[in-house]
Amino acid sequence: MADFISGFWNAYVMGLVGLSLLFCLFVLMSNNKRETGPVELHGHVWDENLAEYNNPLPRWWLYLFWITLIFAVVYLSMYPGFGNTKGVLGWSAVGQYETEMRQAEQRYAPIFAKFQGMEIPAVAADEEARGAGKRLFVTYCAQCHGADARGAKGFPNLSDKVWNWGGEPETIKTTITGGRQAMMPPFGPVLGPDGVKDVVNYVRSLSGLAHDSLRAQRGAELFQQNCVACHGPEAKGTQAMGAPNLTDSDWLYGSSEATITETVQLGRTNRMPGFGEFLGEAKVHLLASYVYSLSNQAVAK
Ligand code: HEC
Ligand code: HEC
Repeated sequence: MADFISGFWNAYVMGLVGLSLLFCLFVLMSNNKRETGPVELHGHVWDENLAEYNNPLPRWWLYLFWITLIFAVVYLSMYPGFGNTKGVLGWSAVGQYETEMRQAEQRYAPIFAKFQGMEIPAVAADEEARGAGKRLFVTYCAQCHGADARGAKGFPNLSDKVWNWGGEPETIKTTITGGRQAMMPPFGPVLGPDGVKDVVNYVRSLSGLAHDSLRAQRGAELFQQNCVACHGPEAKGTQAMGAPNLTDSDWLYGSSEATITETVQLGRTNRMPGFGEFLGEAKVHLLASYVYSLSNQAVAK
């Protein structure tokens, strides 16, 4: 209402509301007669033989109308609704939201502050903190990582010991605060179809999967030339770049020949959004502690 550019629409709405109320009042008053003597038929007949007596409205029915009319007037004088008047109570949706937020802030601030001053493993060992962390996780993280934090294709499992960016308490916090951008470049154009096949067979050999050993041998050389800058000379990954360890049985995208071929040929880009600004440090601290507790069950005893 307050967003109207000119006062005209405001007056227009108030006029319409006022007129509607007056019209209701008029209709009520003019039908307010009590039963006096015998009633006549209306005079019109339809569906062959249906006719209607001209009885006055039942009293209780009429009173309901009066009540709604009075309710409208009382409501419009107390709450915003009549043009851009604010109503005598001064209530507003924004005001209510702000009051509730302030109350929540007051209630939770001391709890957050207490945990913010503690080391992450200590917070992870606190049951109340883990409960709060889990609620935050379900709200802000579950849509990508799953409510049980086990992830999905392209979204890492956070409940195991395998970390692409690092599982140290402070590293987890850095990930959540600033987000991460993973970039695996496409190698299809560089290696050609045969080269890709060779290197894929080498990658599969690293974790003991079925492979063509001749191709894997050729692939090892290609790997040294093209892949070690990120995945490391032993293919154990580089956490600073989010480049995964390729020698274990944990796969972000999948270990089948087709999936690895897709990864190597087309590359992968993946983003973990940053939450530092949106949630503030206190909540990120609780979230980092919760995530840390998932793969360090010993602290959660
Ligand atoms: C929009 C989807 C999305 C949301 C929401 C999201 N994440 Fe992520 N997260 C990702 C993706 C994708 C990655 C993997 C990035 C990569 O490929 O390296 C990731 C990676 C991570 C990692 C690093 C895992 C590793 O192996 O090092 C952590 C920790 C993490 N997320 C925690 C969280 C937490 C806590 C939240 C909630 C505050 C959250 N994420 C919300 C998509 C999301
Ligand atoms: C510029 C750095 C970089 C180079 C060079 C690079 N990679 Fe990667 N690689 C990454 C990153 C980062 C990821 C993770 C992508 C993600 O999280 O979405 C990745 C992911 C992968 C995966 C998916 C692993 C999984 O868990 O599903 C495979 C397989 C892979 N790389 C193989 C290779 C091979 C083979 C080469 C050389 C031909 C190579 N990479 C070269 C950075 C690199």
